[in-house]
Amino acid sequence: MSRVALVTGGSRGIGAAISVALKEAGYKVAANYAGNDEAAAKFTAETGIPTYKWSVADYDACAEGIARVEADLGPVDVLVNNAGITRDAPFHKMSRDQWQAVMDTNLSGLFNMTHPLWPGMRERKFGRVVNISSINGQKGQFGQANYSAAKAGDIGFTKALAQEGARAGITVNAICPGYIATEMVMAVPEKVRESIISTIPVGRLGDPADIARCVVFLASDDAGFITGSTITANGGQYLT
Ligand SMILES: NC(=O)c1ccc[n+]([C@@H]2O[C@H](COP(=O)([O-])OP(=O)(O)OC[C@H]3O[C@@H](n4cnc5c(N)ncnc54)[C@H](OP(=O)(O)O)[C@@H]3O)[C@@H](O)[C@H]2O)c1
Repeated sequence: MSRVALVTGGSRGIGAAISVALKEAGYKVAANYAGNDEAAAKFTAETGIPTYKWSVADYDACAEGIARVEADLGPVDVLVNNAGITRDAPFHKMSRDQWQAVMDTNLSGLFNMTHPLWPGMRERKFGRVVNISSINGQKGQFGQANYSAAKAGDIGFTKALAQEGARAGITVNAICPGYIATEMVMAVPEKVRESIISTIPVGRLGDPADIARCVVFLASDDAGFITGSTITANGGQYLT
C-alpha cells in the first residue's frame, strides 16, 4: 500500500516540486498551503494532488488540518516541513512583528506540524520527517536575523528529535537549500541574479527538483540509517 506524505507549503516553489516528486515516487501526497487559493487550485488541476489550507503557525489549525488529511488519505508516514516566509530588514529596522511572523512560521511551524503526528509515527514504528532549512541558517545573512535564527533553530530541532525518534523507526533530517530558481528568486533583476550566480561554484541556481530529489531519498527505506543529518544542497556556495 502507498505511504502517505504531507508537504507543508506544498503548492508552490520548492514545495510543489517536492509534492510532485513524492507523487511520482508512489506516495499518496497532500499539499498544505496558507492562503493563495488560486495557486493551490491551479496546482491541484495540473497535478491531481489535493491541497489543504491552514497556517502552520497555528497549532490548533495544524491538528485539525492533519485530521482532515488523515481522514482522506490515511495516516501520515512522511512529513515535509517546507512552508517558510521571509520578512527581511536590517536588525535596527526589524519590527517585533517581522521577527515573530518568521519565528511562528519557520520555527514554531515545525513544532506545530510534527507534534500532532509524532504519537502516530511512534505507534506505527515508522516515520520520516524532513525539514527544509536554508543556507542562511548555516552562514547567517545580512537583513535576515529573524530568518537565519529560525532556520538555524530548524537544524537544532532536527538533531534533537532524531535522537528521540531513532528507536521508534522515525528519521528526522534537514535539507539546507542554497539559492533556488523559484518565482521569488527569478523575479529579482537579472543583474542581481547574475551576481548571485557568480558566487555559486557550480555556476547556476539550484532547481526545485534538486531539493525534491533529496527529499525523496530521505523519505525512502534506503535512507533508514540516516537521521539527524543536514544535507547541504547549495552548489558549493557555502561549505559546512
Ligand atoms: N527559494 C530559495 O532559494 C530557498 C533557499 C533556501 C531555503 N528555502 C526554503 O524553502 C522553503 C520553500 O521556499 P520557496 O522559495 O519555495 O517558497 P515560496 O515559493 O514562497 O512558497 C512558499 C509556500 O509555503 C506556503 N506557506 C507560507 N506560509 C505558510 C504558513 N504559515 N502555513 C502554511 N503554508 C505556508 C505558501 O502558501 P501560499 O501559496 O498559500 O502562500 C507556499 O505554498 C522555505 O522554507 C524557504 O525558507 C528557499
